[in-house]
Amino acid sequence: MKIGLLTISDRGARGEYEDRSGPLMAEILQKRTPWQISHRAVVPDEMDVIADRLIAWADAGVNLILTSGGTGFAPRDITPEATRRVIEREAPGIAEALRAESLKITRHAMLSRAVAGIRGRTLIVNMPGSPKAVRENLDVLLPILPHALELLADSPHTESQHRTV
Ligand code: MTE
Repeated sequence: MKIGLLTISDRGARGEYEDRSGPLMAEILQKRTPWQISHRAVVPDEMDVIADRLIAWADAGVNLILTSGGTGFAPRDITPEATRRVIEREAPGIAEALRAESLKITRHAMLSRAVAGIRGRTLIVNMPGSPKAVRENLDVLLPILPHALELLADSPHTESQHRTV
């Protein structure tokens, strides 16, 4: 299984702010899964940049893409919209579960507009940007991933995987 980790942050992409969520996602995944982190990047909150990157990684055969950041209410938070543009099937149960479990920890969880969905054989899941939120979301997500990725890998290949934005 190949994993892509995409941090979405204007300040992070400009180098004004050290990305802490990307390295934390990598550390947790390396500790708790046997999968290989094949792709990592920090990109600005730009619709086309995010969508192009998600498509490129999905088409390169990445099985799981985790994004971090850009899910909130700030005017430039457009990660969910960019994700919706590239997915072919929504996986609402994942986003619902992440929010529901997060709400037990902080009421601010309702401010995350994160979505999850499938493009071809790639699962894409949005997570909020703070390292704390990343850790809490991964605690909920990790246990279901082996089954989810197994199902996706076995599913018949669809032509639409190659659809462009
Ligand atoms: N979810 C969890 N589990 N823990 C958190 O601390 N922070 C919330 C929410 N979800 C949080 C969380 C906050 S404060 C915001 S504004 C939204 O995620 C959106 O975060 P983002 O804009 O960094 O994506």
